[in-house]
Amino acid sequence: MCGIFGYIGSKPNASQIIFEGLKTLEYRGYDSWGIAIQKQESIRQAQDVSRIKNKGRIEIEKQVGKLPAKLFNSKFSTLNSQLGIGHTRWATHGGVTVPNSHPHLDCTDQIAVLHNGIIENYHGIKEKLIQDGHKFKSETDTEIIPHLLENYVLNKKMSLLDAMRKTFNQLNGLNAIVAINTNSSEIVAAKNGSPLIVGVGKDELFLASDSAGILPHTKKVIFMKDNEMVRLGSSVELFSLLDGKALKPEIETVSWDIEQAVRGKYKHFMLKEINEQPLIIETIAKSYTNKIVELATIIKKAKGTFFIGSGTAFHACLAGTYLFSNIAKHHVNTAPASEFNYLEDFLTPNSLIIPLSQSGETIDVVEPLNHAKKKGSTIMSIVNVLGSTIYRMGDHKLLLGAGPEKAVASTKAYIAKIAILIMLSYALADKLDEAKRLLLQTVKEIDRLIKQPSLTQIKKVAKFLSSKEHIYVIGRGGAYATALEGALKIKEVSYIHTEGLPGGELKHGTIALIDKGTPCIVLAPNDETHDAIISNATEIKARGGVIVGISSKKSPVFDQWIEVKDLGSPLITHVVPFQLLAYYLAVIKKLDPDKPRNLAKSVTVK
Ligand code: AGP
Ligand code: GLU
Repeated sequence: MCGIFGYIGSKPNASQIIFEGLKTLEYRGYDSWGIAIQKQESIRQAQDVSRIKNKGRIEIEKQVGKLPAKLFNSKFSTLNSQLGIGHTRWATHGGVTVPNSHPHLDCTDQIAVLHNGIIENYHGIKEKLIQDGHKFKSETDTEIIPHLLENYVLNKKMSLLDAMRKTFNQLNGLNAIVAINTNSSEIVAAKNGSPLIVGVGKDELFLASDSAGILPHTKKVIFMKDNEMVRLGSSVELFSLLDGKALKPEIETVSWDIEQAVRGKYKHFMLKEINEQPLIIETIAKSYTNKIVELATIIKKAKGTFFIGSGTAFHACLAGTYLFSNIAKHHVNTAPASEFNYLEDFLTPNSLIIPLSQSGETIDVVEPLNHAKKKGSTIMSIVNVLGSTIYRMGDHKLLLGAGPEKAVASTKAYIAKIAILIMLSYALADKLDEAKRLLLQTVKEIDRLIKQPSLTQIKKVAKFLSSKEHIYVIGRGGAYATALEGALKIKEVSYIHTEGLPGGELKHGTIALIDKGTPCIVLAPNDETHDAIISNATEIKARGGVIVGISSKKSPVFDQWIEVKDLGSPLITHVVPFQLLAYYLAVIKKLDPDKPRNLAKSVTVK
C-alpha cells in the first residue's frame, strides 16, 4: 500500500526529485517515510565490491509521520546525487517507528531496499539469517531482503540484478521490491502483485508506484507486469523473474495531464475532485457511446454476470444491480470482492465478472479475478488507472476517465462508475440516448449543488452533525447503495460512526439505537421509494431522532433539509451532498480529509 519513487539520471538533485515524487504518492501510505541516495564518489571509486569500505556511501533520511512541506534535512539539501529511492509506508509488520521505516539496509550499509507488500514466509528466513550472524534493526518483514541480497552480492559476488532474482523468488506473497547499492550506478526492482511503473525521460529514468507520480517529468511509461524485474541504469532493461531472460519493454503514453494531478486552487484534493465531477459525467455522456455499445453486447451474451469491488467500488456494484434490474431488466449478482472468493463455486467459462476499481490494484479484487480466470470466465475490467493490474487482467476493458484521484476518500471515481453503469444499463435496454440526456441533466444539478447557496446549507448541516457520535443513513431501492456510500464517506474522513442501511431494515434491529437527538439522514428522491422512506423517517422521529432529509421537496418530518432537485439520476445527484458533508465535517473537526488515519488509497494487502 506504500508509495515508491526512484530516480536515476543527469540531474544532480536526486533527493529533491524523490522527495517531490513521494509527495505525489503520499496518499498511498503516510505513517512514515524515508529516502536513500547513493553518493556519487562511491560509484567512481569502487571497482571491486570487496574494496568498498562501506559507511556513508548510501545516505539515508527516515522520519515518522507525513512528509514535511520541504526537504529540510541539511545533509540532503547540500549533497549532490543522481541516484536514489524513497518510500512512504503503510505499516503491516512492526509499529510506526523510525527503525521500521524504509529504506532498510544490510549489515554493511551497502545495500538499501524499499518494499511494498507482505512477505508471508519472512519468519523462517529471518531466523536463519540471524543464526548466520545477520543483525536486524527493525521488526519489519522487509528487512530480510537487504540481508538476503547481502549474502548474494557481497559473499557470492553476484550482480545486484541476479541477487534480486534469487532473493525475490524465495519470497511468498505479493510484493514489489526496489534496491540500490554502493558500487553500481543502477536501481534494480522486481514485482509480483504490487504496482511498479518505470518513467522514461530524457537522460533520466524514474520508478514509481503509479504513473501520476511520474507525470511531472514524463508521460512515457512502462507498466511492469507481474514476475518482471527491471534494471534502470543508462537505459531500461527488463527481465523475467521466472527464467531471467531479457524482455522487450513496451513504452506507453499516459493521457493524464499534470494539472489533473495537482491541487491547484483547492485546499484539498477531495474538494477538487468533487468539483471535477460535472465535467467527468459530461465526458462520459458525450464520448463513451461506441465502447458502451460494445460492452453491452458482451454482457447480453453472458450466462451469469457478477459485479465485484471493494468499499466505495462495491457500493457502485450494488447500485449497478438496481440499475440493471430496473432499466435493463437484466439480472446481475454482486458481492464485496473480498467475499467473492467464497461465492465463486458457480463460475463457469460462460460467466462474466465485471470488476469495478479506481486504482486497479485492490488485492481483494485481484484475487477472485485470478480464480475466475482459472475457471475460464471472462473479465470485463472497469477501472480508472491505465496499465493497472485489474486493467491488464481484463479480456475487455473500459477506463473510467476520472483522471488521477488523490484523496483517499473516493468521490469522482464513484460518480464515474455510476455514470458508466447508467450508460450500460440503458444500452442493454437499447435506450442509450435516454442515458445521455439523464446524465447531462445530472451535470446541471451537481453544478448547482457544489456552488452557493447550496454549499451554505450543506455546511450548516455539517456543523449540526459535527458534535454527534453516531449518524444513521437510510434509503430504499438504488438509494440504499447511496446510503451505504454516504455513510462510508462520512465515517472515513470525519471518524464519526455512521451506518447506512435500507429504510425497511431499520425496524428489524437498528431502530433500538435511536434515542433523543440521534441524527438520521433520509434519502427521499421523488420515485417509488418516496412514501415508504418518509414513513421510516417518521418512525425514527417518533423515537426522538432528528431527521436530515435529502430530497427535492421539504417534508414536515425533516428537521434539516438539503435540497436536491429531481433532475438527472438520483444515484449520482444524491451522493454529492454526502461527499460535501464528509468534506466539511473533516474541515470543521480539523482533520485532513485527503489522508484519513489508518487508511491508504490503494489497498494492495489482504
Ligand atoms: C472509499 O472512499 C475508499 N477509501 C475505499 O473504500 C476504496 O473505494 C476501496 O479501497 C476500493 O478501491 P479501488 O476502487 O481502488 O479498488
Ligand atoms: N510490510 C512492509 C512494512 O510493514 C511494507 C509495507 C508497505 O507496503 O508499506 O514495512
